[in-house]
Amino acid sequence: EKGGFSSFMDKEIHDQPQAVGDTLLGRFDTEGKLSLDEMHIDENVLKSIDKIVVVACGTAAYAGQVAKYAIEHWCRIPVEVELAHEFRYRDPVVNEKTLIVAISQSGETMDTIMAVRHARQQGAKVIAICNTFGSTIPRESDAVLYTHAGPEIAVASTKAFLSQVVACYLLGLYLAQLRGNKFRDEIALILKDLQTIPEKIQRILDEGKDQVLGLARRNEDVGSVLFLGRHVGYPVAMEGALKLKELAYIHAEGFAAGELKHGPIALIDDGQLVIIVVPSKRGRDSLHAKVISNIQEVRARGANTVVIAEEGDEDVREFASEVIYVPETSTLLAPLLTTVPLQIFAMELATAKGLDVDQPRNLAKSVTVE
Ligand code: F6R
Repeated sequence: EKGGFSSFMDKEIHDQPQAVGDTLLGRFDTEGKLSLDEMHIDENVLKSIDKIVVVACGTAAYAGQVAKYAIEHWCRIPVEVELAHEFRYRDPVVNEKTLIVAISQSGETMDTIMAVRHARQQGAKVIAICNTFGSTIPRESDAVLYTHAGPEIAVASTKAFLSQVVACYLLGLYLAQLRGNKFRDEIALILKDLQTIPEKIQRILDEGKDQVLGLARRNEDVGSVLFLGRHVGYPVAMEGALKLKELAYIHAEGFAAGELKHGPIALIDDGQLVIIVVPSKRGRDSLHAKVISNIQEVRARGANTVVIAEEGDEDVREFASEVIYVPETSTLLAPLLTTVPLQIFAMELATAKGLDVDQPRNLAKSVTVE
């Protein structure tokens, strides 16, 4: 049941500390090394793969996009992310050396099932990342890494998404461990950081919710919202836009911030609401400075800039109409935190418009037709 919350979605957003914690639980041995009992694929096969292809749809595909940044960095294996329905019908290059990662909350999404079947016919091994025990996708895969988010009732995915992202990290770290990685110290740090994520999400829920609620109410009549991000903030931007479309029926787009000047900046007009996901200042390759200059660019053209940034980041203030701070974490783990205010924003905006956030129009919880 809703456990005192006004909607399943509200409850499920608040379930996220637990969903993340439970997905991490029991996956480390006594020395703190990752041990994934359920990984029923021969270690030698996993060592020999030369490409990973994530197949998924919608929000699950955005989890895959986050996985790409993490797994390529930790494992040095190329990762492609494919919408399952596009993968299946374009004669993709897959073989025995390809590892397919099929991500699905329900395990019953027909597009993803068809992609899994096709890949296995070509000799590829398939790992499912799934939230529904015994559903079709895990049954048809070689191995399964279950997310332990608990049942997700609201049509729009929230806690399943964060758990999928966590499972992707676990898979990447496991492969890195298996293949003898060059980033041992960084990986140890990431594992430690992962354990602190549930309490950090809780902090966003406890301390940040009212601010986002206010923001949502003030923007109830907005006609369009743009979301910008770079690196792992890019899939977060797309997820934020998808949530807003689904729940509030508002036109929204997520862009890679670097792509702005290649076209989308033409959309910026006086008062356009732009939500920007800013990477940590401690992150690599001056990404932070690049995003700051993207904020300046849209601000100079009249945009109303709402910034999601890491606590302590004072540089963003000057160019932001409003800053929503989230706790510090490693660059690659940031989506587990930055997504949360965007979920709340979409939910509260839809609620302000009097819409049913659990059952948005035209959508089904699982899409069992192609
Ligand atoms: C968005 C949403 C959908 C699903 C997609 C895949 O909020 O819920 O985009 O993520 O339909 O569903 P699963 O994960 O069940 O395969």
